[in-house]
Amino acid sequence: MKVMNNTEIKNMFSLEGKVAIVTGGAGSLGEGVATGLALHGADIVVTGRTLETLQETVKKVEAVGKRALAVVCDVTKEEQVKEMVQKTLDAFGKIDILVTVAGIAKRFPAEEFPVDAFEQVMDINVTGTFIPCKIVGNVMKEQGYGKIITVSSVRAFAGHPGGYAAYGTSKGAVSLLTKQLATEWAKYNINVNSVAPTIFWTPLTQEVLEDEKLKKIFLDRIPMGRAALVQDMVGSTVYLASAAADFITGQVIYVDGGCTAG
Ligand SMILES: NC(=O)c1ccc[n+]([C@@H]2O[C@H](COP(=O)([O-])OP(=O)(O)OC[C@H]3O[C@@H](n4cnc5c(N)ncnc54)[C@H](O)[C@@H]3O)[C@@H](O)[C@H]2O)c1
Repeated sequence: MKVMNNTEIKNMFSLEGKVAIVTGGAGSLGEGVATGLALHGADIVVTGRTLETLQETVKKVEAVGKRALAVVCDVTKEEQVKEMVQKTLDAFGKIDILVTVAGIAKRFPAEEFPVDAFEQVMDINVTGTFIPCKIVGNVMKEQGYGKIITVSSVRAFAGHPGGYAAYGTSKGAVSLLTKQLATEWAKYNINVNSVAPTIFWTPLTQEVLEDEKLKKIFLDRIPMGRAALVQDMVGSTVYLASAAADFITGQVIYVDGGCTAG
């Protein structure tokens, strides 16, 4: 790898000319990440299970002057992911960045956790991260470069009294999968890192927000005393997607206001 000159160093956070796929692109964080990557220069493919819900994200990306394509795809279905990746290549010719945002949360006391709910969380959060990484990883291997950013959580770092037997376990798996893929694919010049946020107020966490006692338990554990905001997630994702993070791989970056610091 060559040494950068000053102009290249100045531009190393730019995503101009890059193509990014964002799974779960209709969700609160997916939409924010897709628009954030576009604001920094990337063209975007957003994926989700229904076309209508993706249109809002498409409009936001186009409003900042970048190209956007919505592709229906369930991340747990390998054939659908393959088709989505082929459509991306047909439209844009390459894939520089993959951000695996799609995920769900279900909370129950561990002793009552329905096994089918546990399996659903593991399926979408773990298998639904692995499959897009596998399919896009093959494209990036051919290209000889790529940036993959998975989405973990502070729940991957330590247990929590809020009923996270499935969610925390699934995000622990996402963090380890990130390190595993980084280790296997460094030789192909593919960086694989994870952004692991603390709580945002999105539909995924609505039930926590609505329960004052539970909300306090969450906020008391965050030294900075607030929930995460979409821009917190965008900053770390843009960084990991950019040339500024060329030598960073296999890392889980906690975007958590100090939650995991102590
Ligand atoms: N909200 C938080 O506090 C928080 C904190 C840490 C990590 N996260 C993680 O961030 C990610 C996004 O969370 P969010 O708050 O935006 O949630 P959200 O519910 O708004 O968005 C999640 C998106 O994933 C999609 N999705 C679910 N199953 C899918 C499947 N099988 N195939 C394709 N798409 C599917 C949903 O349709 C939705 O659009 C998740 O992985 C979540 O675990 C969220």
